[in-house]
Amino acid sequence: MPDTPSPSRMEALMASHLGAARTTLPVSTLQIRGLGKRYGQTVALSDATVAFQPGAIHTILGENGSGKSTMLKILSGVVAPSEGRVVMNGQDIHARSPFDMQRLGLATVFQEVLIAPHRSVTDNIFLGCDGFIRRAHDRRKRLETARALMAALARFPIDVAGNAGSLPLAALQLVVIARAFVRLPSILLLDEATAALDYADRDLVFDAVEDYARAGNIVVFISHRMEEVRRLSDRVTVLRSGRVIETLERAEISSQRLLDLMAPEAHLHAQ
Ligand SMILES: Nc1ncnc2c1ncn2[C@@H]1O[C@H](COP(=O)(O)OP(=O)(O)OP(=O)(O)O)[C@@H](O)[C@H]1O
Ligand SMILES: [Mg+2]
Repeated sequence: MPDTPSPSRMEALMASHLGAARTTLPVSTLQIRGLGKRYGQTVALSDATVAFQPGAIHTILGENGSGKSTMLKILSGVVAPSEGRVVMNGQDIHARSPFDMQRLGLATVFQEVLIAPHRSVTDNIFLGCDGFIRRAHDRRKRLETARALMAALARFPIDVAGNAGSLPLAALQLVVIARAFVRLPSILLLDEATAALDYADRDLVFDAVEDYARAGNIVVFISHRMEEVRRLSDRVTVLRSGRVIETLERAEISSQRLLDLMAPEAHLHAQ
């Protein structure tokens, strides 16, 4: 058995500001089994079975419309599956809302950047946090925590007391990433979470995400950018037309192999 990993920098940062450890129990296993979602005639996801492991970054890769976000939305409790199961620590989970999944230790950065524009950056980071975190933080503490979080994620200064609506999209993307970290989730889901960031601005986020996974958390990552996928992934599951095609381990991952699995026809035409 490996030693218990040390806490990540985000966990240490939150512990030093909050004066307490995480409020959710660690999740040791997460699986989806035979998971599917139909929208009328559209099959968004079909019979998807994947096991996610703590300490690893598991990427979901596929062309537009292949079902990646649908998988994450089901895991997040935003969308109810048409069939199949979500199994956490060996128990079937029947989430009725995103709050149910949050309580179980899951946080998601959605593909759409969801921000309350007329509220401060700090309020946006703590938006929807449960009572414990809110109570443990008075306003001044929340500002300090927000400042520390943004300093850990952003290469440029962000005024955490200012309105979120005045920030450029790249900064907002970092705000929603901070919002996920502030909950110290045992399962962190990132759906194209760095799409609006410049190449250089992604490094801090990637470092934080890698460090977070290494501390024993589950990270599920979606990205279109092949070089990001190769850099971060311990495992990649490829989807095509809502179906799981294959799961590759790190040693098996190459851009060519991934492209072949994503769209074999397109690749044949290209030759
Ligand atoms: N609310 C919805 N109503 C109807 N069809 C939907 C809905 N959400 C998703 N779909 C369809 O389900 C399929 C899978 O969509 P999904 O958003 O999961 O794909 P994706 O892999 O995340 O794509 P992208 O790379 O463009 O983000 C697509 O054909 C999409 O049009
Ligand atoms: Mg998507």
